[in-house]
Amino acid sequence: MILSSSPIPPNFCSLAANKNKAGEQWNLFAMDIMDLIKTRRSVRRFSQEKLDRNFLVELVEAARSAPAAANVQSLEYIVVDEPKICQELFGTLMWAWHIRPKRKPAPNQRPVAYIVVLIDAEIKKDAAVDAAAAIENILLAAWGKGVGSCWLGVLNREKISQILNIDEKYYIDSVVALGKPAEKPVMEDAAGEDTKYYLDGNDVLHIPKRPLKRILHFNKFGSK
Ligand SMILES: Cc1cc2nc3c(=O)[nH]c(=O)nc-3n(C[C@H](O)[C@H](O)[C@H](O)COP(=O)(O)O)c2cc1C
Repeated sequence: MILSSSPIPPNFCSLAANKNKAGEQWNLFAMDIMDLIKTRRSVRRFSQEKLDRNFLVELVEAARSAPAAANVQSLEYIVVDEPKICQELFGTLMWAWHIRPKRKPAPNQRPVAYIVVLIDAEIKKDAAVDAAAAIENILLAAWGKGVGSCWLGVLNREKISQILNIDEKYYIDSVVALGKPAEKPVMEDAAGEDTKYYLDGNDVLHIPKRPLKRILHFNKFGSK
């Protein structure tokens, strides 16, 4: 299932689990999870290969395992993998604001599945932080299997509610778009304060991140 160009081993979890000595297991896992975290990028061009329903359920399992403040859990998930509904959902999303409309996926590059993340306001209304933790788990679990994703927060929520028949007590936090990547965005150190992503002359998406030395302090603020 993993892309041949991906730096991630085929199944990082089972690799870690296969180690007998606890120390070794921890070291191996730590190394792999760093690779996973650092190489995950938001993807906006997807191959049209379908994703297995069980895999999508696994991603929700990853979300469910995330931390939640006071362990109060107000999140629910809608997996969308039916092509007609995917198409309708696509029309409610905003892609790559800074370079719009250049990274809006073309019809043959669209996500093949989505996970819609809902907050049950009757359980806990202000759960955006819990949702964020759950969503990051989805993104990493997906990338661990070579599947790309894009976290989408600029949404036509009213339209999504209609399309998916969502009860009004739910707030739609985010939509996660999923599919095998058909682009390879690159992360780089931002040269200055401008962190807007951009396309280069070869249509490669660049993601400037603030350099470590700019944001890291030891013991007291300002001590580098
Ligand atoms: C809360 C949140 C909302 C986002 N909403 C959108 C969105 O509506 N559309 C989009 O194309 N990307 C969206 N993104 C993806 C960001 O643009 C992306 O994470 C950022 O450019 C950094 O790139 P990276 O994910 O590859 O590190 C969102 C990300 C977050 C965390």
